[in-house]
Amino acid sequence: MKAVQILGDVSSPKIFPNYSINIPEIKDSEILIRVHAAGITGDEIIWPEPYASATRIPGHEISGIISALGPDYDGPLSIDQEVFAFSHADRGQGHADYVVCLPNEVALKPTTISHAQAAALPIPLLTAWEALTDHAKVKSGMRVFITGASGAVGMMAVQLAKKLAGAHVIALASPRNHEMLKGLGANEVLDYNVSGWEKSVVGVDVVFDTVGGEVLAKTWECVKDDGVIVTVGDPAPDWAFGGGQAPESAQCPNVRYVHFIVSPNAKRMEDGGEMVAAGSLTTVAVKRFPFNEAKAAWEYAQKRNRGEKAVIDFIEEN
Ligand SMILES: NC(=O)c1ccc[n+]([C@@H]2O[C@H](COP(=O)([O-])OP(=O)(O)OC[C@H]3O[C@@H](n4cnc5c(N)ncnc54)[C@H](OP(=O)(O)O)[C@@H]3O)[C@@H](O)[C@H]2O)c1
Repeated sequence: MKAVQILGDVSSPKIFPNYSINIPEIKDSEILIRVHAAGITGDEIIWPEPYASATRIPGHEISGIISALGPDYDGPLSIDQEVFAFSHADRGQGHADYVVCLPNEVALKPTTISHAQAAALPIPLLTAWEALTDHAKVKSGMRVFITGASGAVGMMAVQLAKKLAGAHVIALASPRNHEMLKGLGANEVLDYNVSGWEKSVVGVDVVFDTVGGEVLAKTWECVKDDGVIVTVGDPAPDWAFGGGQAPESAQCPNVRYVHFIVSPNAKRMEDGGEMVAAGSLTTVAVKRFPFNEAKAAWEYAQKRNRGEKAVIDFIEEN
């Protein structure tokens, strides 16, 4: 089968389209998916899992058709159904013609969107949902500040903070995205190019940071004394993965701060898919690349100011 590989090491990765990889076999209750399209998060290039795998195949989010079910599978899905999936951070290997998924990673694809659009949905949807509900515990009326709001995760977070919790949303993004973000439900929009933006956001209940680095550091000025900062921006802060305390916490001892790696959740994918089908959740715009342009797709995914998320077509749709 065809599959993308990341060769080399994380300091000098090379995207390589390989046309002769073995189709994986399923066992137990696994699900084999014939991939039509696979999404790319640009910073995946520094995620450790492809470098640790024998196949060197990256990718966690796909859309396609169920090709086979393991002998112990007893769930509701059946062969030939159109599905989208997020495979766990430790596994991945989604950038291939065929991918093995676990039952909790797969949900029916919304019928109103293409495989390419569905392949760009799982990571933003699940990450934003988990950040806002499990980690930040956003409730109605809370003020939620979202950085990188025009990005794939940020756009989804703006919408879910409104729709799941009825929060007051403040979005940080470049001005060309402000009208779009207001249309998605942002109550306030801020330009990250304006120096001192962090002084104009005061006492928010929740920061959801999707940028990291200096932007994350500045959000400590925005959060209230007993608020929470949740971040997923890459590279992860030094304090993530048990790396100690955030230096800012010395001044803000009651601020809770969390970094997490997104988890699979078929129920949330199903619910999010229904919201998409009903027109109440807008998916990120996608830029499609054929498989033989996988290198260009990964390069595009790592650009800023893209406005679209890169997707690789494994089967070319109209
Ligand atoms: N831990 C996890 O489980 C997890 C899950 C999902 C994603 N992530 C990470 O979360 C991040 C966001 O993912 P994504 O798919 O949403 O990426 P994305 O679509 O590329 O969006 C990134 C956003 O950040 C903004 N941005 C980048 N650098 C900035 C800066 N210096 N100042 C202000 N804004 C800046 C971009 O704005 P412009 O377009 O205007 O440049 C864009 O809106 C990535 O680092 C990704 O790896 C982690």
